Amino acid sequence: MNESIKNATAQFETLLREQIERTKRMEELSKPVDYAALDKLVIGVCDGDGIGPIICREATRVLETLLADKIAAGKVEIRRIEGLTLENRMAQGKSIPDDVLAAIKECHVLLKGPTTTPKGGTGAKELESANVALRRELDLFANVRPVAVPEEGIDWTFYRENTEGEYVLGSRGVEIPGVLACDFKVTTDLGTERIARAAYEFARKNGKKNVAIVTKANIMKKTDGKFARICRELAEREYPELVLEDWYIDIMAANLVNPAIRSKFEVFVLPNLYGDIITDEAAQIQGGVGTAGSANVGGRYAMFEAVHGSAPRMIEEGIGEYANPASIIKADEMLLRHVGFAEAADKLAAAMQKCTADKSLNMTGDKNGSTCREYANKLLAYISED
Ligand code: IPM
Ligand code: MG
Repeated sequence: MNESIKNATAQFETLLREQIERTKRMEELSKPVDYAALDKLVIGVCDGDGIGPIICREATRVLETLLADKIAAGKVEIRRIEGLTLENRMAQGKSIPDDVLAAIKECHVLLKGPTTTPKGGTGAKELESANVALRRELDLFANVRPVAVPEEGIDWTFYRENTEGEYVLGSRGVEIPGVLACDFKVTTDLGTERIARAAYEFARKNGKKNVAIVTKANIMKKTDGKFARICRELAEREYPELVLEDWYIDIMAANLVNPAIRSKFEVFVLPNLYGDIITDEAAQIQGGVGTAGSANVGGRYAMFEAVHGSAPRMIEEGIGEYANPASIIKADEMLLRHVGFAEAADKLAAAMQKCTADKSLNMTGDKNGSTCREYANKLLAYISED
């Protein structure tokens, strides 16, 4: 037992030192790229697992159509990157194989299909989630997830901190077998300030006033306490026009399903795990996790993906072709907007709205509904009519 405690303490010291080092690199990594100044923008595409190749095939087709002129002129390249599959990751014992990571780092932005994460505690080799590893390796600190239900006046944008909290050491907890296990949650000053700033800049540029800081600072006093305090201090110092509200995550989960108040919320800023959970809830209110897009934005890199997972069950049941590509296509729209192609993004958004209203499309996710290809064909038809 003493030996186990000694080892765990030593491990904790290593973790602390590593995290302090991480904050030292943070400022440099947070500097944004000027996409307009690039000779050529390289968009990488990684299919991922399960339904990933099926939905990515359609999302790529949509990008190729919308950017056809720019691709022809050599201003944009869409580059497929192979190998981000569960089989390859398990075989290499790495959440992102080295050659895949190197190829990704040669791109400017990435469209990524869902990747399967083996669950812990099963005795199988514990491989870190490829998503989490990518967010860390590329320092994608802001997870931006918009959710809108126009007929109910809902227009929410979630700014989920994406590189720390419960995730950064999620695969590096300590365990004294048969007795206890301990995971760590990390909140840094710089990491909190940069996500808060990203949320506030978004609010300012888009005429939003209401910003909800969502934590569980009554329980997680050190980490969430710091998060809430730094968010508030930054707003008081530099964004006095914003109206900040502090909420706890549990009551905010209830608020989102309370029609009496939910439409007053506009922007949310929150630590990683709460953001993970509540954005699934929010996406469900919009029509399901299959409908929401997700941007993972850093300075040098940005990655766009669906909110949902790889749906291995759909593949096992042989109904992968019925997957709804709306979420990853929404990620296309966010990608286009992020790199400054607003016109293409608007076109895509308008076509997606038409698809939502189109009664001939019925995305049920099973053989009674429309296929992924049918959805994309319809979408491309709306785009070409435009
Ligand atoms: C998400 C997903 C990921 C997360 C998983 C796949 C690791 O749920 O992007 O919300 O927990 O962040
Ligand atoms: Mg999630």
